[in-house]
Amino acid sequence: MSRSHMPPLVHRLYVFGAIAIAVFVLIAWAVTAVSLSAKTISNLPDHDIHTAPEQCIACHQSGENAPPLPHVPLPSCGYCHR
Ligand code: HEC
Ligand code: HEC
Repeated sequence: MSRSHMPPLVHRLYVFGAIAIAVFVLIAWAVTAVSLSAKTISNLPDHDIHTAPEQCIACHQSGENAPPLPHVPLPSCGYCHR
């Protein structure tokens, strides 16, 4: 399919679709890379994956021996910290 055989609008949609797919793949790749780089918690004592994110945040922002969050308080933790 040569581009010269496409009407201009179709060609524009084709280019837009290709860019949209490329951007989506890049974002998915970035999210996966970040989630894999997060530290594992399953080997820590009293770190249950089923703890509510609010409880994780509460303890980690209490200023006690828990390390503070180096990132914004995300709505879920287990997606990255397993
Ligand atoms: C009652 C307090 C408390 C709660 C609740 C808690 N943590 Fe922690 N967390 C700690 C403490 C204390 C440490 C440091 C432990 C250590 O280094 O041995 C820690 C360490 C961590 C670390 C660093 C691990 C490392 O290898 O350095 C991560 C990541 C983490 N917690 C995430 C979470 C997540 C996600 C949750 C919810 C599922 C959670 N925490 C719930 C107290 C808590
Ligand atoms: C999008 C992935 C992602 C999510 C979701 C996420 N984190 Fe993290 N978190 C990271 C990355 C990457 C780091 C930096 C590497 C590391 O220290 O694990 C980090 C670091 C941390 C640390 C510092 C660990 C240390 O040793 O200093 C804590 C504590 C932590 N996260 C807690 C949480 C809590 C609690 C939640 C849920 C509210 C959460 N994270 C959700 C990716 C994530």
